[in-house]
Amino acid sequence: MSLDLDKRQRAMLREMGVRIWQAPPVVAASDLSVAMNSVANHVRPSRAEARFDAEPQRPQVAAARAPQAAPVPTVARAPGLQPRPAGIELMAWPALQAAVAGCRACALCTSRKNTVFGVGPVAGDAAPAVDWLIVGEAPGENEDIAGEPFVGQAGKLLDNMLLAMRLQRGNDDAARPGVAKNIFITNVLKCRPPANRNPDPAEVAQCAPYLKRQVELLQPKIILALGKFAAQSLLQDSVPEVQKIPLGKLRGQVHNYLGVPVVVSYHPAYLLRSLGDKAKAWDDLCLAMSVAPTVVRSA
Ligand code: URA
Repeated sequence: MSLDLDKRQRAMLREMGVRIWQAPPVVAASDLSVAMNSVANHVRPSRAEARFDAEPQRPQVAAARAPQAAPVPTVARAPGLQPRPAGIELMAWPALQAAVAGCRACALCTSRKNTVFGVGPVAGDAAPAVDWLIVGEAPGENEDIAGEPFVGQAGKLLDNMLLAMRLQRGNDDAARPGVAKNIFITNVLKCRPPANRNPDPAEVAQCAPYLKRQVELLQPKIILALGKFAAQSLLQDSVPEVQKIPLGKLRGQVHNYLGVPVVVSYHPAYLLRSLGDKAKAWDDLCLAMSVAPTVVRSA
């Protein structure tokens, strides 16, 4: 499949550094330009969003050291911590929401304002019917206050990237003809790491069962993993030594998490300060759309 763009539109995208690769024909060129303009408008990320490393430093390989077993992550003890609720793997959507809201399994609960479960179409007590699941890293300052993922500058860019795929977040009231809301957005961590530091492996391990249950209940057709923490968290059981693989090398292929196709891309906060990679991000979105071409439905 190829984009149905005329000569002028193609020239415009070329001018912006966007390589046209593949996309379902339903993607309108106007949406493409909206999204890519947003990527191109260099908005300085706030400190709250500046922590993402799309291309981690190459791991230093210690010379001639005997292989060591990976340390088992442990959660820092803090007053008031409690074990994660039992039975997450069997929870229905409302119970899962309540479990996240009341979670005190790691020290992040002591500094958070709100937990951030995720956002999608409202479906009463059922998990919303979505085709797309977007997984980011962790709530930042704005998300911690709002209790909703991706509401800051990175979120604005994400919204524009979604719009280019004819998707919008489920709780967005603006009606856009032909734009679907069958998408759920969440993060690896449901609580904000203080001062927006990177997630700690023990915190990721504590939160992982929540994300796993979200995937089981949502049954998305495609997962878009944004940034290295989302990629590593989702691919740790299927990609050997995924922690050592730069994000760029996880792109461009279709991975798998619980039987759901996973496409890896750059985190929007990284794209805000690394404009050179915006065309690659568009390639990733096109790959995701081509994996599941039927998922783009009219609203
Ligand atoms: N970055 C993320 O990864 N998630 C958010 O919710 C906000 C910023």
